[in-house]
Amino acid sequence: MKTIVCKKDDISRGTLILVNQSHPLKNTFFPLIPLDFQNQPEQSIKEEIYMERHAANLLHACIHSIGGEREIVPVSGWRSRKEQEEIWNSSIETDGEEFTKKYVALPDCSEHQTGLAIDLGRAARKIDFIRPAFPYDGVCGKFRQEAAKYGFVERYGQGKENITGIAHEPWHFRYVGSPHAKLLKENGLCLEEYVPFLKTGPKNCLIAERMAQVFYVPCLGEETEIELPDRCGSVQVSGDNISGFIVTVWGDTL
Ligand code: DAL
Ligand code: ZN
Repeated sequence: MKTIVCKKDDISRGTLILVNQSHPLKNTFFPLIPLDFQNQPEQSIKEEIYMERHAANLLHACIHSIGGEREIVPVSGWRSRKEQEEIWNSSIETDGEEFTKKYVALPDCSEHQTGLAIDLGRAARKIDFIRPAFPYDGVCGKFRQEAAKYGFVERYGQGKENITGIAHEPWHFRYVGSPHAKLLKENGLCLEEYVPFLKTGPKNCLIAERMAQVFYVPCLGEETEIELPDRCGSVQVSGDNISGFIVTVWGDTL
């Protein structure tokens, strides 16, 4: 029987970590690269925008696949803790507490600090930094249709406000990877609902003729030994930043 061992600290590592007000980011580092978007409208960007490197490459690929390079612009990607704090403070000052709590996460509770989140806007002369317009039609709609294939989900959906603690944000996308984006989208789940969903049993998902099986394993202490199915290809493990690990086992091509 094949097994792998995860350490307790691994709970806070990986592309599926949940970061919200109840589950702040630990001291977790993801390698970042600057985004490389063509024809960025002047006013939308003041400096380079960074993202976790796999997420950045897949974001470029998704936008390229729909020919969206001219119309879709990155507005905000990775943020340092200091930057998140500045955004929070300036929003409180400008728009008040009620608005800020809806649209800005507290420092250390923002998934922008992971590098796995990106705010996208439709190119325009003036783009709102906190709430950029990213509609459901046109090329932005096409991006939404394709996003899950590239591992992205609209993170703060309509009707999920009571679960996420954040208002509907049509512009904020989170990289969770494959097959998780597809599983979340097809089952109408937000990230807070993913681990409870996986706790009901292993889930199978077909991606490009390869079957992936996803299951949850609770952390059992300093070291957790995870049993893998006998016939398995590559295996990925991500912490959930709560209490355990999400394991993805890829099978052979069908
Ligand atoms: N706008 C999201 C909630 C953030 O500040 O991380
Ligand atoms: Zn955002």
